[in-house]
Amino acid sequence: MAKIFLLATMFLASSVLTITATDWNIMNQRTRTKSGLQITLKNYCESWRINVELSNIRDFTVVPSECTSYIGKYMTGTQFKVDSEATIDECTLYLNTLCDLKKDGKDAWIFDIDDTLLSTVPYYKKHDYGGETLNVTGLEEWMGKGKATAMDYSLNLYNDIKKRGMQIILISSRREHLRSATIDNLVDAGFYGWKSLYLRSEENECKTVQEYKAGVRKELINNGYRIWGILGDQWSSIRGQPTARRTFKLPNSLYYVA
Ligand SMILES: *[C@@H]1O[C@H](CO)[C@@H](O)[C@H](O)[C@H]1NC(C)=O
Repeated sequence: MAKIFLLATMFLASSVLTITATDWNIMNQRTRTKSGLQITLKNYCESWRINVELSNIRDFTVVPSECTSYIGKYMTGTQFKVDSEATIDECTLYLNTLCDLKKDGKDAWIFDIDDTLLSTVPYYKKHDYGGETLNVTGLEEWMGKGKATAMDYSLNLYNDIKKRGMQIILISSRREHLRSATIDNLVDAGFYGWKSLYLRSEENECKTVQEYKAGVRKELINNGYRIWGILGDQWSSIRGQPTARRTFKLPNSLYYVA
C-alpha cells in the first residue's frame, strides 16, 4: 500500500515537472513592453530576433537567457531553413540578371564560411544556443575536428556560381591555424574549387572582422576582381568599404561578430 502511494506521488511529481519544463508553458508567460503592451515571451523573443537581423541590436555577447529556448527552436526548425532558402533564391534571381559577366577569371563571388557554408548549430546546441559566453578555445577545438555539416541550400548556390564561371572567394574570421582543418571540412562537406581562402592572420587580429574583410575586398579589387556579390551571416561580412555590387545576409541569431 505504502509502495503504491509512493509510486503515485512520484508519478504526479514527475508529470508536474515535465509540464512546467515545457517550452510551450514558458513561451506563454505574459510580459509587458515598455509602453505597457501585454505580450507573450514568444513575442518578446521574436522581436529580439528580428531586430538582430535588422541590425538594430548590435554587439550582443549572449542571447538573452529567457530567449535561448526560442532561438534554439528557430535555428533548428523549419522556419530557419525556409528563411535561409529564400535568401539563396534571391541570390539566384540576382545572378540570373547578370548578363555582363566577362568570364575572364575576374568575376568573383564572396562567401563566409561559418553559418553560411558550414553550420555551427551543432556546437551551439551544446552551449545553450548562444546563451553562454563564447569560449573561443572550445569553439576552435570543435572547428579543428572538421565535422561541421554543409548547409545544403548554400552548397547548391556555390555549385551554381562555379558553373557560371565565376571565381569563388572565401573570407572567414576563422584564424589561420585552422586552415588545414577548414579545408578538410569544406571538401568533406562538398565545397571545392574555390579560388582563394582567406583566414585571419595574426596581423589582422587587432582589426575588427569588418575591417579585415573590407581590407581583403580592397586587395581583390586592386587585383582586378569584380565582386558581384557577397553571401554572409553577419553584418560585418557585408558592411564596410569597398563592398560588392549586391550583398545577401543569411539569418543567424546565435552570435554576433563585429
Ligand atoms: C573553454 O573550453 C575549453 C576546451 O573545451 C575548456 O577546457 C575550458 O574549461 C573552457 N573554459 C571555460 C571558462 O568554460
